[in-house]
Amino acid sequence: MEHRDHTRQLISTANAMVADFKGLVAIDESVSTLNKRFELAGIPQTEEYRRAYREVLITTPGIGEYINGAILFDETVHQKTLAGIPFLDELKKAGVIPGIKLDEGTEDLAGFPKEKVTKGLDDLSERLTAYANQGLKFAKWRGVILIDGDLPSAACVVSNAHALARYAAACQRAGIVPIVEPEVIMDGNHTIQRCAEVTEKVLYSLFEQLHLLKVELGGLILKPNMILAGKDAAEKADPELVARLTVNCLRSTVPATVAGIAFLSGGQDPVTACRNLNAMNLNHKAELPWPVTYSFSRALHQPALEVWKGKAENVKSAQESFLQMAKDCRAARLGVFSS
Ligand code: 13P
Repeated sequence: MEHRDHTRQLISTANAMVADFKGLVAIDESVSTLNKRFELAGIPQTEEYRRAYREVLITTPGIGEYINGAILFDETVHQKTLAGIPFLDELKKAGVIPGIKLDEGTEDLAGFPKEKVTKGLDDLSERLTAYANQGLKFAKWRGVILIDGDLPSAACVVSNAHALARYAAACQRAGIVPIVEPEVIMDGNHTIQRCAEVTEKVLYSLFEQLHLLKVELGGLILKPNMILAGKDAAEKADPELVARLTVNCLRSTVPATVAGIAFLSGGQDPVTACRNLNAMNLNHKAELPWPVTYSFSRALHQPALEVWKGKAENVKSAQESFLQMAKDCRAARLGVFSS
């Protein structure tokens, strides 16, 4: 494909991922993460239960009205419904674009105690080619940044930003839209202002690296954290403060050419995540040059997991719960969420 057509295709996919006031769902939990959630909910931790849970979500009737794309984990890409239909075909039928988590988790950043860098660059181009051939249109890579005293170090910020940029460039070369997810995690008792300061540094560094590696911003989705106080902080912020600080931070670091912003939920409960997203789209609409939407995992389907409990008789009510959360998220994207 000619360079111009290739770029046009990336931009068109990225735009479709955030179109029509819809968002994305992350169902890309690694085996160990999903097993941990299963354990807490009393669900057996086997491949068959993970498959069955993904079937509950993917086959929820009407989900394509609220969700443009689903981020999958490798295991799910190859699985089928109980009736033998490949999940990729089910998604296509529902009008949901399939994507894939490409990072392989984190490892210690040598020389920087407590800090992590993300793995998965080594065989990335081979994996990208294979996924592109299977029809996956976008990908995700998560970098993890911890706030703790003077941390994050500059080394951690730049190492993660550089890995995200290398991943993004490799994705685009393979015709796959990168979701870049530099997550400043909520762990800790830091203030909301400290989160704003760190997130600004992280995003500044990320866009510097993306620029260095010539990543096409129109063919990229940013998946950031919202600006929040640490989960053990004494003082929590109301949605208007979260919205104002988040919008300010994004406006000062993210070029207007980026195709869209799709937040992670980061451990916020579903109502709080929706209220915060709603406040951005309701009160700051005129300040947003990009679509600002959701790419939640826990805030979109943790309630469904708790309803399902691994039991066939709960599938229908779990799907109703998932659909309701998807409706709430879309309402927040439109700035009309109320709870
Ligand atoms: P949460 O919405 O649960 O933070 O998950 C989003 C995600 O994709 C984490 O990588």
